[in-house]
Amino acid sequence: MAWSKAEFREQYSKLASIYDPGMWLYRAVGLRISAYRQAAVEALRLQPGDTVVDLGCGTGLNLPYLHAAVGDSGRIIGVDLTPEMLERAEHRARKAGWTNVELVEADMSAYRYPADAQGLLATLALATVPDYDDILARAALELPAGARIANFELQWPERWPTWLARFAAWLNRPAGVTPDIVDRRPADAIARHFVEVEAREVYFGAGIICSGTVPRS
Ligand SMILES: C[S@@+](CC[C@H](N)C(=O)[O-])C[C@H]1O[C@@H](n2cnc3c(N)ncnc32)[C@H](O)[C@@H]1O
Repeated sequence: MAWSKAEFREQYSKLASIYDPGMWLYRAVGLRISAYRQAAVEALRLQPGDTVVDLGCGTGLNLPYLHAAVGDSGRIIGVDLTPEMLERAEHRARKAGWTNVELVEADMSAYRYPADAQGLLATLALATVPDYDDILARAALELPAGARIANFELQWPERWPTWLARFAAWLNRPAGVTPDIVDRRPADAIARHFVEVEAREVYFGAGIICSGTVPRS
């Protein structure tokens, strides 16, 4: 069964201090997570001065790419459920001297988007939230027409042998991956609610970078 919000908050409060070093493990087995973060940010087609929201921003590993895209005149809003993850993101922004990063402790299921946001990013965050379809449907309604969305996600790799996919899911249990990950497809939800959708699978379907545009109503 999927974790509750309280279970997520409790687990990520414990993971916060080891989250960034934990990313090295992915890198050690050849996963180019940083390159996919960058590709997702590029897919947003942000301009200097733009406002962008990073849903489930965690420790702020996307912040360098987002800041490079919107510059000092832009606005970056990181939204996360877990205060300990946000503290790390805040430390990262402060250390880099970025004064245009706002960090909001909120449940992404209830978060209201700023009316002027031009971009919405989510990396490794949507697939673990059961109501991601509702979240994306609301984003498509609340964000202005023409705003861009980009998502990088690990997903159930249908082209892998089942035993290997099960093993990979089991290894990711501490991050909130539960057996119902088999049915979680945020990219399909993006295709339902956005237009000009593009998707690129990596690692034989174990990862996906998907982007789209908010349609005109
Ligand atoms: C695997 S981490 C990904 C963090 C970051 N996006 C990255 O790419 O490194 C998942 C994050 O989603 C956050 N999260 C989980 N459920 C959430 C929710 N309902 N609303 C907001 N954040 C949530 C967790 O606190 C955690 O920081």
